[in-house]
Amino acid sequence: MRTIDWVDGAVEIIDQTALPGDLRVLRLHTVGELIAAIQSLAVRGAPALGVAGAFGVALAARVHADDPGALAQAVRKIETARPTAVNLARGAQRAANLLPLGPDAVLAEACAIRDEEIAASQSMAFHGADLVTELCGPRARLLTHCNTGGLCAVTIGTALGVVGELHRRGRLGGVIASETRPLLQGARLTSWELTQWGVAHRVAVDSAGPFLMARGEVDAVILGADRICANGDVINKIGTYAHALGARRAGIPFLVVAPESTVDVATPTGGHVEIEDRGAAEVTAWSDAVNPAFDVTPADLVTAIVTDRRVIRLDRGERPRP
Ligand code: MRU
Repeated sequence: MRTIDWVDGAVEIIDQTALPGDLRVLRLHTVGELIAAIQSLAVRGAPALGVAGAFGVALAARVHADDPGALAQAVRKIETARPTAVNLARGAQRAANLLPLGPDAVLAEACAIRDEEIAASQSMAFHGADLVTELCGPRARLLTHCNTGGLCAVTIGTALGVVGELHRRGRLGGVIASETRPLLQGARLTSWELTQWGVAHRVAVDSAGPFLMARGEVDAVILGADRICANGDVINKIGTYAHALGARRAGIPFLVVAPESTVDVATPTGGHVEIEDRGAAEVTAWSDAVNPAFDVTPADLVTAIVTDRRVIRLDRGERPRP
């Protein structure tokens, strides 16, 4: 089942706010509905956001075909619905480039982006599984963070796609899903997907990750990215940086799996990226709170970045290049 797709003139998504209790499909007919779904995280994860951005422009192209001003404003709202994952604005812009050719051309481009993400997921799963086995041996025990399965993309996913591939190869020694507070993408979504795939796993509170690594229970950390900067800094779900520090201290690989559509060589370092602030309400109703949704993991803590086209060994001095 696809996380996001274009079906009979509307965008269909799996409503990730309802999981794991309810597997519900939402049909989005308007740009407003699509933006609300993005902002509530009904659709989320960098690759899926890229596809959502492109389909959003396809919706806008149909509704505002005769009103260039309204169309431009709708595209701008889609691009900026969430700030951190580069895929959203990139997917929307790519589709918007086809606007002069009409709504059908825009939709065709959006479908191409969807198809590219499916192919990229498959490619990352193979590259990543090869690298994990090379670095960790035949029964790798992995810790992952946030949700990087089919729910973050269209199918398969990024880092969790690698986990699934290792499972199929009989090369997986165990998985720990970090619960990922405050919205529990790990405990709710990753755990649900691993259960669907028949992969045995355990959920740990976020703060347990570095300790489990120190105790020798994890062979590598593997997770995704919302943006990878030119210097190799990795922007990903809040809590990623702590896992990177834990991995460095424990002397185990820290692997980032993301499609090329997440590599942003136009952004020099993580310090240049807007980190989404999701406000206090998601954290607590009892006191004031600070709630950054992503963090920046410095490049020197990253062993390797696996994309659909290449393995960039940051530990050997390589850096993302166009
Ligand atoms: O706030 P979210 O759930 O959209 O955050 C998603 C993540 O941080 C994922 O780890 C990231 O998009 C990588 S999946 C390729």
